[in-house]
Amino acid sequence: MDDVLIRSFREKFGTPPEVYSSAPGRINLIGEHTDYNLGYVLPSAIHLHVAFLASGRTDGIVRIWADNFKQEKSFSLQQDVEARRGGWIDYVKGIFWVLSKQGASLRGIDAYVWGNIPLESGLSSSAALEVSIISALDVLFKLGLSPLEIAKLAQAAENDYVGVKCGLMDQFVSVFGKKDKAVFLDCDTLAYEYIPLRLTREDLGILVYDTRVPRDLASSAYNKRRSEAMGALERLREYGIQTYKDVTLSLLDEKKNELGETYYKRARHVVAENERVKKAVSALRDDNFHELGRLLFQSHKSLRDDYQVSCPELDLLFECGKKSQSCLGARLTGAGFGGSGIALIRKKDIPSFKMQVSDEAQRRGFVTPACYEVEIGEGMRTQIRVK
Ligand code: GLA
Repeated sequence: MDDVLIRSFREKFGTPPEVYSSAPGRINLIGEHTDYNLGYVLPSAIHLHVAFLASGRTDGIVRIWADNFKQEKSFSLQQDVEARRGGWIDYVKGIFWVLSKQGASLRGIDAYVWGNIPLESGLSSSAALEVSIISALDVLFKLGLSPLEIAKLAQAAENDYVGVKCGLMDQFVSVFGKKDKAVFLDCDTLAYEYIPLRLTREDLGILVYDTRVPRDLASSAYNKRRSEAMGALERLREYGIQTYKDVTLSLLDEKKNELGETYYKRARHVVAENERVKKAVSALRDDNFHELGRLLFQSHKSLRDDYQVSCPELDLLFECGKKSQSCLGARLTGAGFGGSGIALIRKKDIPSFKMQVSDEAQRRGFVTPACYEVEIGEGMRTQIRVK
């Protein structure tokens, strides 16, 4: 694929690109809505990715071809970086915006972007796009950014320019992901550890179930959940609590009346989910996939009932997973409100399970989902002076 993209860049701009970067999407095994609550997450990078090819220009014009949309757009660094237009170009502008706020000295570029992460699928195509752009600009303009700075700047662009108040998980795993490993990240200290995912040894695979539900309200609902979880923590601070890591389920039960129903439920999800992530890490260390699966099911229930970010389409995956002998666990992955779910499943039974969920979706009158297996892949990579 890389050669095809390099040839396409050359055809469009007349020269080969000076830099090629690629950054993956992700699945999150467990630890949902815990990143911005400064808890634990356990995501993995996947084989689907965004590729970004670029060359520097001498002026301040950014000209970019988005192959997936067959669209070219451009803007001037001097004049229109501040203006948000909506759509994919804002992700590019957001990166230039965040880097110039850091005092980086930037010029225009000719760029070509291509990706195979389905958009709006909850597999972090936007984080992959942001990371691929920053890592290319880092090389092109010799910015000297560390991998952690790349992840944090990508998050800042999404938070402060695009306006989604996401945590650091997606950008972090897009940068740091490793083949056949999950990344156990403490979002408070940013300490992380690679946990081997020996799925093939047990003949297991990870199936993505993309609901294809339109996610128009997803970002406002996401921001609302975030502020509810913060609100609950604020109230708990009156009892000497600093972060969610200090909270226990028994303390929550004690303070249930003071918290009120909504805050109580949001907090209960965060506290229990943090515990589940730690248990999932131990299960993976022991190759205990039955235990991992059990935790995935529990996580879904908590996201459905306490954090309330599921939807009927995602619940369908959970219900089919529970009924199936070959599915060890299933849950929504990412923000929820549509997007995708994952199922941990015996490889040989993937085709029949796919058929089962698709038939059930049809029976319930849902949009036809997309189901496919994902491989656990590498994090970002960049290559200079591509020929
Ligand atoms: C989205 C956000 C992440 C994280 C998840 C929920 O993917 O981008 O930061 O909060 O939702 O776990």
